[in-house]
Amino acid sequence: MSEDAYRLTSPSGSEMELPVRKGTAGPDAIDIARLYKEQGVFTYDPGFVATGSCESDITFIDGEEGILMYRGYPVEQLAAHSSFIEVAYLLLHGNLPTTDELAGFDQTIRRHTMLNEGMLSFFKGFRYDAHPMAMLSAVVGSMSAYYHDELDASNPRHRDKFAHRILAKLPTIAAAAYKLNVGQPFIYPRNDLNYCENLLHMLFAVPAEPYEIDPVAAEALDLLFILHADHEQNCSTSTVRMAGSSGANPYSAIAAGISALWGPAHGGANESVLTMLEEIGDASQIGKFVAKAKDKNDPFRLMGFGHRVYKNFDPRATIIRGMCHKVLARLDQRNTPLFDLALELESVALKDEYFIEKNLYPNVDFYSGIIYKALGIPTSMFTVMFALGRSVGWAAHWREMIANPKGKISRPRQIYTGPTVRDYVPIKKR
Ligand code: CMC
Repeated sequence: MSEDAYRLTSPSGSEMELPVRKGTAGPDAIDIARLYKEQGVFTYDPGFVATGSCESDITFIDGEEGILMYRGYPVEQLAAHSSFIEVAYLLLHGNLPTTDELAGFDQTIRRHTMLNEGMLSFFKGFRYDAHPMAMLSAVVGSMSAYYHDELDASNPRHRDKFAHRILAKLPTIAAAAYKLNVGQPFIYPRNDLNYCENLLHMLFAVPAEPYEIDPVAAEALDLLFILHADHEQNCSTSTVRMAGSSGANPYSAIAAGISALWGPAHGGANESVLTMLEEIGDASQIGKFVAKAKDKNDPFRLMGFGHRVYKNFDPRATIIRGMCHKVLARLDQRNTPLFDLALELESVALKDEYFIEKNLYPNVDFYSGIIYKALGIPTSMFTVMFALGRSVGWAAHWREMIANPKGKISRPRQIYTGPTVRDYVPIKKR
């Protein structure tokens, strides 16, 4: 047996060597692709806790050490020195751009911000109080009906065009959803503004008076988008890859990813954190809520705590916590008590045996909502903000998945636990 293989012995004594696959970093993986064919058994791993679904060059996470890297660059360095648009180029193309490449990419994204006018009529059909994630998913799905030119997945230029459209048009769709909720007229994009300035303009400008963009707000959004840009095979990205693996229209695959992100165990947690902090109200109530979170008979969980992969700390949470101080100091002192409450809750939970034993730490969503709230973004839009940042990760993963000549349709197996064969009984005899 070579060193790079596991030997599997079946209950009947037959043996099989399972090769080991090695990435450039991270734990090895046992390749079980031949297992079913040769042994007639498959593996069982609900929630994919110990299962890799693909090879990927895009993002690396070490959950024990709290490391997150995009294309090899630590997220701390990107957060300190880069911009969301540069990170988007990096994720899509694999390398940091030169000055000319960045300028060209930035210009391309700015040129794609407008929506087909027909798409705007969708917003007239939604109820005024529709959740913006519901609208985002539906309208992004409708892009498959509007942008079906240049969608030959085997053509790299078409794959680029798809990524550009997703990145450029999602803020416009998100802002239109917000404007419907607040009953204001839709504001067209301004391509002289950068990505986050333009988003703030579309969200908060009104035709009746001038709107001045606060550079601290634009900077804070840019940072949050960098931190949300990708996170390897998380639930929504895996959903995009899975839907796309059938050869489905990529805009529909992104719409599926948006729907997956909405859940409170995933991107919807940022909305739930704010709701939870407001419910806790003040520090005297923290003990009661921490006890609820520990009670096995109570479904309540501390939102913004815990992560499937990070078992030490979430590096994104550390960066966002720092940004919170800056944003609150500059923008909205009224939210400082909420931040103080979050810090107190964090400190209580981190000293609690239950949270220590289960390696539960604040995740990216624990602090992001406090910044969004300080920027005047309503709670229902928090997960939409996450989606805007993550859109580039989804596009990068779709491109990587679809360009892989060895790609297969995603199709897990199951352990069947239903009735075994039984005969049909005519309805009158049941
Ligand atoms: N509060 C209380 N207990 C918790 C929490 C929490 N937030 N998170 C996990 N646990 C407990 C859980 O009950 C389980 O206990 P036991 O072993 O006794 O059954 C143990 O910790 C392990 O949890 P798990 O649910 O098996 O772990 P998972 O990897 O399947 O789930 C998670 C990860 C993020 C879904 C979960 O920690 C959670 O629900 N957290 C709250 C929601 C949240 O903040 N989600 C945002 C994730 S970060 C943004 C993103 O990437 O989407």
